[in-house]
Parts: sequence; structure tokens; C-alpha cells
Amino acid sequence: TRILFVTSEVFPLVKTGGLADVSSSLPEALCKLGMDCQILLPGYPAALKAARAAGSRRKTRFRFGQYDVALWQTRLPDTAVTLWLIDCPALFDRSSDSPYQNEKGEDWWDNAHRFHLFARIGAMMALGQLGLPWQPDIVHCNDWQTGLIPVFLDNTQHQHAPKTVFTIHNLAYQGLFSQETFRALGLPDYLWRFEFLEFHEQLSFLKGGLVFSDAITTVSPSYADEIQTPWFGNGLDGLLRHRSGHLHGILNGIDTRAWNPEQDPWLDVHYGPGHLKNKAQCKAKLKQELGLEPGGAPLLGFVGRLVEQKGLDWLLAVMLPLLNQGCQFAVLGAGQSHYQDRLQELAREWQQQLSLTLGYHEGLAHKITAGCDMFLMPSQFEPCGLNQMYSLRYGTIPVVHGVGGLNDTVFDPSEEVTGKANGFVFREPTADAFLTAIQRALTAKASAKTWRRLQDNAMAADYSWKHRAKEYATLYQNLITGDGRLHE
Ligand code: ADP
Ligand code: GLC
Repeated sequence: TRILFVTSEVFPLVKTGGLADVSSSLPEALCKLGMDCQILLPGYPAALKAARAAGSRRKTRFRFGQYDVALWQTRLPDTAVTLWLIDCPALFDRSSDSPYQNEKGEDWWDNAHRFHLFARIGAMMALGQLGLPWQPDIVHCNDWQTGLIPVFLDNTQHQHAPKTVFTIHNLAYQGLFSQETFRALGLPDYLWRFEFLEFHEQLSFLKGGLVFSDAITTVSPSYADEIQTPWFGNGLDGLLRHRSGHLHGILNGIDTRAWNPEQDPWLDVHYGPGHLKNKAQCKAKLKQELGLEPGGAPLLGFVGRLVEQKGLDWLLAVMLPLLNQGCQFAVLGAGQSHYQDRLQELAREWQQQLSLTLGYHEGLAHKITAGCDMFLMPSQFEPCGLNQMYSLRYGTIPVVHGVGGLNDTVFDPSEEVTGKANGFVFREPTADAFLTAIQRALTAKASAKTWRRLQDNAMAADYSWKHRAKEYATLYQNLITGDGRLHE
């Protein structure tokens, strides 16, 4: 099976969140299952630089409307996975590291044009219109940036178009633009209807993916259910209920090579299931590196985007009582300035107990994941979430809001039915409920035996793509044979 995996981010070339991690680890897992999965990415400067350094070449060059476009074929670094880059300097040769925003953190004014062209070229490649020797059976699209691809591959217009899968990594980002932009893109008039791309008088890229794809997936079974309700549906729950027969929740896996406490290059000492002794050393080292007071005080970690979705308001609300109680925090993230400011104030006031690192730091993320006792994820919603799986694998007990992928991966001892308890879950969406869950975790930690049982359960489970990628394989197969359903 040949799959074109189309994405706007891929680790380690360009990343703003978990989409990048999934976009490298899932294609790799699919290739290991014997499929021919190739990735298509915009030719951002960092990606083209890596391609040139690897000695890769341009495969084809053409003019598309007002744009000069070239297609490069290279490999995703450190893998055998083929990576195609759309080189269009006018749209993708931009100065900032972010794929979507300028240095000031504002969306590029022409994002609609950038991802419209991306989708157009993706569709042409899928239809074999670029003269390349390779053509996919399936086009796997991800998030709004790829939402127009299923529109362009609409099989009522192209009988032999490959089948499309559209994965929702986050329904809150929809790619909304004005009607004027819709016209400027030259999209056919009939698409400006609420059954198609129009959403409250705006152009929605995301709707293109939701309406026109042959199958929709999202990144956890719980999120698949949640987005069919008004609370989590962002105004699209009706459409998703309408398509529920073609909507599947498939839990993300993690890159178990990069996230392995037994051989993590970011750690000085290692540990693993059944031999946790060195974890204490990771904690002591981390405290030292972050300038926190040494000693036995519980250390609570947070790594993530500092935005409302991640439950920053609840996190800020529980910090003060916990600091007063002697807890310590290691926080790493970047995001909205009002959250950064508030955290900075607290960190200044509580230097011995609260360490804040603003920015993106791969190594520190690993050290926090290994060195903390608990990992906090009070997300308001969480399509899947990767950090709780990283921390579970590192024996760092997660305390999470029971939504989306968090609900599918973290199991609370008070709700235990299977003997698999591995963390603490709060269900009521309030800061109080979050605080209570942390207090329950602190109580459990006071008993070495109880804590060790949680850690053993956490570390024993399989978070790899090995089995989860097979669910995609089954879906692709069913689409090719004409049945878009995942299970019979
Ligand atoms: P989301 O995609 O919503 O941001 P995920 O949990 O799926 O959430 O993925 C977030 C990814 O980004 C994880 O790999 C996490 O470790 C990483 N990450 C987020 N912020 C930072 C940061 N400041 N430094 C290092 N890694 C980060
Ligand atoms: C999104 C979601 C996150 C998910 C990631 C990868 O960014 O916010 O929950 O883990 O995509 O699918």
C-alpha cells in the first residue's frame, strides 16, 4: 500500500506541537509494517537546508499560477522514510522558525494562500499530474492546513483519485478566512455553502477535510466521542455526528526510541521497569540544574504550550496552596504572554521552589519527564496528548483532567477496575478538583508500596505505535477495498 502522508509539521525539522511527533513516528511505524508511506511537507528553510545537506535533489520544477514551484525528494533525518518538500520561495521561504507565524507571533497574512498551494500540489501529486514515478493509493491528511486536499480529490470529479483519510489533531484550529479570501483563492462558487466550506460566513479549511474525506480519524477514542457533542464540538459537532459512521478514534503512539528512560541521551543515569533506583538521582540532578532547594520535597512537572487548552488557569490556581505546602515545580513552556508573565511573577517570589523555563528545550523536557515525581496535565480538552505517555513510560505519575486521550491512557486507583492504576484523574472541570487529585497523589506518594505499584503499572504498558499503527493499516485496506469502516 502506498500512502502519501501530508502534514505541515514534522519532527525534527519543524515543530509546534504533537502533530510534528506523530508525523514522523507514524509514517516510520507504517513503513515498518511493510507499507510505502511517504511524507509531503512545505519547503520551509530548515527542511530545505537539511535536504541540501543530505545531498538531495530537485525532482521537478514548474510554474503554478504566479508561483515558481519545485519538488525535492529527500529522507526524513535518521529514518528510511521518503520526504517530499514543496519548494516555493514566495510562500515558504520565511524568516521565522514557526511554520505559521512571523517573529512577532502573528499569523502570516497569506496563510490561506500558503496552505491552498500546499493542498493543490498535494492533490496534483496524488493524481499523478506532476510526472513523478510514484503515486499513492491513499492520501492521509492532517489538520486544517491540509483540509482542501480532500476537496480537490473529490471522487465525484475524479473517478480514479486515491482515497483520503483526514485526521483531526485539534478541532479548535480550523483555518478560518474571509469570503474575500475564498474568492481570491479562485475556489469554485458552489463550495460557498454551509454543506461544504462555508462556516458562519467564513471559509473553513477544516470543513473541507471533514466533509470531503473518505474517512475521518482523530487521535483518541474518547476525543472521537467528545467532538460529537456541543461542549467539545466547536460548532462542528452536528457535521461530525452526521459523519459518525466514517469517524474513528485511533490512539496515538509515541516514539519509544527517543523516549526511553533506559537509554535517553539527555539523561546522565538511566533506569527502567523493575529498576528505578536511578530515578532519584535524576530528580536530585534536575533540582540542582534548576536551582531548586535540594531535599525530598515532591517535585511536580509541567511541559507544554502555555495556552488555555492546557489548563493554565487551573495550574496557576493550584500552585500557591501547593507551594505553601512545600511542593516544588519544574515548568517548561512558551505561549501566551499573560500566562508567561504570571508564571514569571510566581517564580520570582518562590525561587527555591518554582523553576520556570520559557522557550522550547528538547533536553529539559526529557529531564523534567524523568526527574519529577508527578507530571501535571490539567488540559481543558486534549485530543490525545503525548506528554502523559512520556511521563508514564518514565515512571512519573501523571495527574490529569479525564478528557480525550488523557481519559484513554491514565487510570485512577479510585476508579480501578482492571488493576492497571497508573495515575490520578479529575473529572469535574474546576481548579478545586485538580487540587484534590494532586492531594490524593501526594497521599499515595507517602506510601512507598502504593507509589511503586502505580509506577510499575505505568512503566509496564505499551505506548508504542506497533499495534496502534495497525489500526491505520486496517483502515487504509478497508478504504481500498471499498469499505470505509474501521471495524466490520
Ligand atoms: P500539543 O500538540 O497540543 O501541544 P502534545 O502533548 O500532543 O500537545 O505534544 C506536545 C509536544 O511538544 C510534546 O512532544 C512535548 O514534549 C513538546 N513540547 C511542548 N512544549 C515544549 C517546550 N517548551 N519544550 C520542549 N518540548 C515541548
Ligand atoms: C494536537 C493535540 C494533542 C495531540 C497532538 C498529536 O496538537 O492538541 O492532544 O496529542 O495533536 O496528535
